[in-house]
Amino acid sequence: MASRIVLNTISYHGHGAIENIVPELTSRGYKKAFVCSDPDLIKFGVTKKVTDLLDAAGFAYAVYSEIKPNPTIQNVQDGVAAFKAAEADCIVTIGGGSSMDTAKAIGIIINNPEFADVRSLEGVAPTKKHAVFTIAVPTTAGTAAEVTINYVITDVEKKRKFVCVDTNDIPEVAVVDPDMMSSMPKGLTAATGMDALTHAIEGYITKGHCTISDMFHLEAIKLISENLRGAVQNTPEGREGMALGQYIAGMGFSNVGLGIVHSMAHGLSALYDTPHGVACAIIL
Ligand SMILES: NC(=O)c1ccc[n+]([C@@H]2O[C@H](COP(=O)([O-])OP(=O)(O)OC[C@H]3O[C@@H](n4cnc5c(N)ncnc54)[C@H](O)[C@@H]3O)[C@@H](O)[C@H]2O)c1
Ligand SMILES: [Fe+2]
Repeated sequence: MASRIVLNTISYHGHGAIENIVPELTSRGYKKAFVCSDPDLIKFGVTKKVTDLLDAAGFAYAVYSEIKPNPTIQNVQDGVAAFKAAEADCIVTIGGGSSMDTAKAIGIIINNPEFADVRSLEGVAPTKKHAVFTIAVPTTAGTAAEVTINYVITDVEKKRKFVCVDTNDIPEVAVVDPDMMSSMPKGLTAATGMDALTHAIEGYITKGHCTISDMFHLEAIKLISENLRGAVQNTPEGREGMALGQYIAGMGFSNVGLGIVHSMAHGLSALYDTPHGVACAIIL
């Protein structure tokens, strides 16, 4: 069977990568960004590392941060309303999987309003148009949502998380800057790192694997096993290695799928709000 590989159009890696955000927006003629981030990232000044660059360039933006870890249908629907109110023309999402997944769902619904109920996006949704132009800036080294064609939303009423798979949701540009991750506390670094390791292992052993995904997953397992301990100690090399390792795992698993660890981890998080990486680590 033929393999399909979907990746970002452009990605930046390494210290100082965020300097590329403003040029990527202005060179495309965008005028106002919808900055999608979460309340803690705003409180701890992580989002500010990027909004300072927008401010310095005089680039207009509006911030949306009503996003909880394991984001909900309500977070998405409020975000869609906020995007419209802001009259923005592009999205810059700064955060972990929760912020990036919410931004993906918002970007999809803005351009495909027939899916405004959010639940109808579950599985492989037949959206017609690509999401709003998005630059994704991860602040955890785990989900690789900046390069995946997936996003995960929690249905609070039904106590379940559902996965949406859609090639129209991949951010055009990923900016993977280890300096955005250096403020992660030890526990979060370890948990999100275990999410990345789980992606690499499950992606490698899944029946859907192919030669290209094997290449990504083997390198990701190597990078993560060499650098996760250093990242927990907050060394620059550890942060850089994990930023790259988690991204390379995403280049693989996004295209071939995961396994039973993730299926079970989503159930655990939906029932008990267990952080995703912790759920993966326990079940792995
Ligand atoms: N789209 C995908 O392909 C994909 C893959 C795996 C998991 N997910 C989903 O992603 C979500 C989990 O994302 P996550 O593990 O990245 O965590 P998260 O986005 O839920 O963030 C967890 C907490 O960490 C804080 N945080 C994030 N970065 C920080 C930093 N640099 N410094 C200090 N605090 C920081 C956040 O403010 C938040 O309070 C789950 O909903 C999961 O199902 C998506
Ligand atoms: Fe995961």
